[in-house]
Amino acid sequence: MMQTVARVLCALVVLGVSVAAAARPTIEELKSRKVLDDYEANVVYGYNIVTDTSRYAARYVGNRLQCSNCHLQAGTKPHAIPLDVEGLYPKWRSKNGVRNGLGLRIRECFLYSMNGIMPPEEAPEVQAVSAYIHYLSEGQVIGRLPPGARVPMVPETGEDPNPARGETVYHRICAACHGPDGHGTAAAPPLWGPESYNAGAGMNDVRKAAGFIWANMPVGNENSLSPQEALDVAAFLHLQIRPADPRDGRLRKLMERLVHRVSELFGATQ
Ligand code: HEC
Ligand code: HEC
Repeated sequence: MMQTVARVLCALVVLGVSVAAAARPTIEELKSRKVLDDYEANVVYGYNIVTDTSRYAARYVGNRLQCSNCHLQAGTKPHAIPLDVEGLYPKWRSKNGVRNGLGLRIRECFLYSMNGIMPPEEAPEVQAVSAYIHYLSEGQVIGRLPPGARVPMVPETGEDPNPARGETVYHRICAACHGPDGHGTAAAPPLWGPESYNAGAGMNDVRKAAGFIWANMPVGNENSLSPQEALDVAAFLHLQIRPADPRDGRLRKLMERLVHRVSELFGATQ
């Protein structure tokens, strides 16, 4: 009997030690190691891509943003679209029965948020970001939205977002860092213009942008805007000129072809 108890205790101690040993090393720790296994090397590479995208994933990037300009603190800040979301993928859309995997989600942010080229699923950059997201997601429950996921919903104000008021908020609060022309400064990335996210990006959705701004801007004085100010300034950003939604081009071409065909037919009957 005593022996069994001792054995169980012993097993518990061993278990405890191995759990402690398995605790997630920090990125700094990983970087300081002389030898990394394939997974760990990809985690570090993925971290580098997220924080220095234009350098480590240059061939797929079309603007001056880094993933971590929106996925703040390298994707670890709650309410700033944190990246510990592997447990939410794949998502099944009953609409089309298509599996929306994590890889696709990463590739979409290259296409829209980074106004770049969609990398193939098997690109080393996509694999590395997936490894980093896996690392951040350790301990999350599969299928359960992690606390602080995405951005908060700005409370209903009973008033529509008003871009004219938003412009005043912009020049009073945001322009100091993002520039009076919104094209960014040394202190902050661009919010519109050729070096910003394109019109198909999640940040171009007024409610999502308002939630992000409300919880995370201005840096150093977060949560200081009223819900209405956040909505207004998001509506103002939405009206600014930025790269077009890449899907528009295809749709427009299709429409043009259709119009061409119809007018051809029309011409033929005359
Ligand atoms: C301009 C801001 C911006 C940039 C830059 C950006 N993203 Fe995103 N990302 C978003 C927004 C907004 C969402 C959608 C959040 C939602 O659906 O509520 C999102 C969603 C995601 C998701 C899914 C998160 C979830 O909660 O399911 C992943 C993964 C992701 N981005 C990866 C990346 C990677 C990798 C990069 C860099 C290559 C990047 N993003 C660059 C704004 C950005
Ligand atoms: C004190 C400087 C500062 C002020 C003021 C400020 N921001 Fe930012 N903003 C930043 C920085 C820095 C980042 C990038 C954060 C990072 O990379 O960690 C950022 C990122 C952003 C982003 C996501 C990245 C992008 O470029 O699209 C948005 C959207 C944004 N800010 C909107 C606003 C709005 C709207 C205001 C005014 C209400 C504002 N900011 C005020 C410094 C500032």
